[in-house]
Amino acid sequence: MITAEENIELTRVGRGTLMGNFFRQFWLPVCLSSELKADGDPVRLMIVGEKLVAFRDTEGRVGVFDHRCPHRCASLFFGRNELGGIRCAYHGWKFDVTGKCLDQPNLEDKSKYPAGTPAIAYRVKEQGGMVFAYMGEHQENPPELPHLEAIMAEGDDRNIVLTHRDCNYLQALEGDIDTSHLGFLHVGGVDSEKLDLNDPEVFTVKEKAPKINVSEMAYGTMYSAQRDAYEGTEHQRYAHYIFPIWVSYPSGDLDTNITANAWVPIDDHSTMIFNIDLRRASGGGKKKLMYKDGTPVGGLARPLEYLPNTTDWKGRWRPTKDLTNDYAIDREWQRNGDSYTGIVGVPLQDQMIQESMGPIVDREMEHLAASDRMVILTRRVMLDAARKYAATGELPPVAHRPELAKDARGGDIIVPYGTEWLEGYEEKMAEIKGYRPNLSAAE
Ligand code: FES
Ligand SMILES: [Fe+2]
Repeated sequence: MITAEENIELTRVGRGTLMGNFFRQFWLPVCLSSELKADGDPVRLMIVGEKLVAFRDTEGRVGVFDHRCPHRCASLFFGRNELGGIRCAYHGWKFDVTGKCLDQPNLEDKSKYPAGTPAIAYRVKEQGGMVFAYMGEHQENPPELPHLEAIMAEGDDRNIVLTHRDCNYLQALEGDIDTSHLGFLHVGGVDSEKLDLNDPEVFTVKEKAPKINVSEMAYGTMYSAQRDAYEGTEHQRYAHYIFPIWVSYPSGDLDTNITANAWVPIDDHSTMIFNIDLRRASGGGKKKLMYKDGTPVGGLARPLEYLPNTTDWKGRWRPTKDLTNDYAIDREWQRNGDSYTGIVGVPLQDQMIQESMGPIVDREMEHLAASDRMVILTRRVMLDAARKYAATGELPPVAHRPELAKDARGGDIIVPYGTEWLEGYEEKMAEIKGYRPNLSAAE
């Protein structure tokens, strides 16, 4: 479906690449706010292939820099974070969070260099417990953050989990919009005949070949997976891709499911996942699939275990299970049918599959099917948008109108049989929000 050249265009993220240039024009989450302490240790970050250093100054402001000191390129990671700025350990030049040079103490004639030399500093914002950086062309006039509910909702009542994944961002993001794998990879070991039908989500377990509806949207793309449900009704499960690296994913009823994943490229071969879930944080918890006898279907939401973070460029939020230990696969468990994979928990199952495809999927080897509609459309929409930006400098509408993303929520609903899929979504959202969203309105 896509050529080798297109695959290169879609997956490479370094400076000067098609997708890398496109991604830089949007705010990207780079770390948790809690990872940076005032006057604390600088933190190494790698984002879209660039080595950065992040620090929080005495007043709590955050700086995100190219890690190289503008004098002679010593790494500012080894600098002193002190009294309102970071001071390079080599010759003592000091920079505030905006990159402005405050001091050049090794220069005899300081008046010769009155303005100093700025560090390469990116625009920074903090929102919802995360630090965002803008690495694009318009440092003086950056766009707004996307108005996704998971980012913008007030308060600290958020559960955010970061995870390093050893593969290209695209195959990881595609795992999030590939609804077809749910019934196999995650719940293929569940005997659907024994499930309690009170939870509408059981239909995602019972029907393994849903109809997939897809549409291009002003903010990206959207799908629903459509299944027969109770007598005279249908189950619709919705998710959205939002430019450039966001997915609003379904993991429960539409009226309470405020969730998003950011699939942030670390470099071409690794990705940092920012998983945001407001419902979990507010104690609502995800409804558990239950058997008719009242016992919950076990192990689905088992969280990942992490290695201690290191200061390496790629040393943060790495799971203990990876390809080197075959994700601790239990072949007996897989064989006896209780587990489809022999792998514990949804996040580890996704990690195992996405990393197993190799650092970057060779997409010429694929044989895509009707179940891959959302993946096919989203690749096309991403590629078209990035090419348009390269040719004209024009970004998709959501870059300038971030409010277009505010009604892109993932989740499940039950509708009367025959309800048009987008109609059903807009009606339910109108009920939840008190106004009817117009998702496809680009202008
Ligand atoms: S290299 Fe940083 S002050 Fe000289
Ligand atoms: Fe999955």
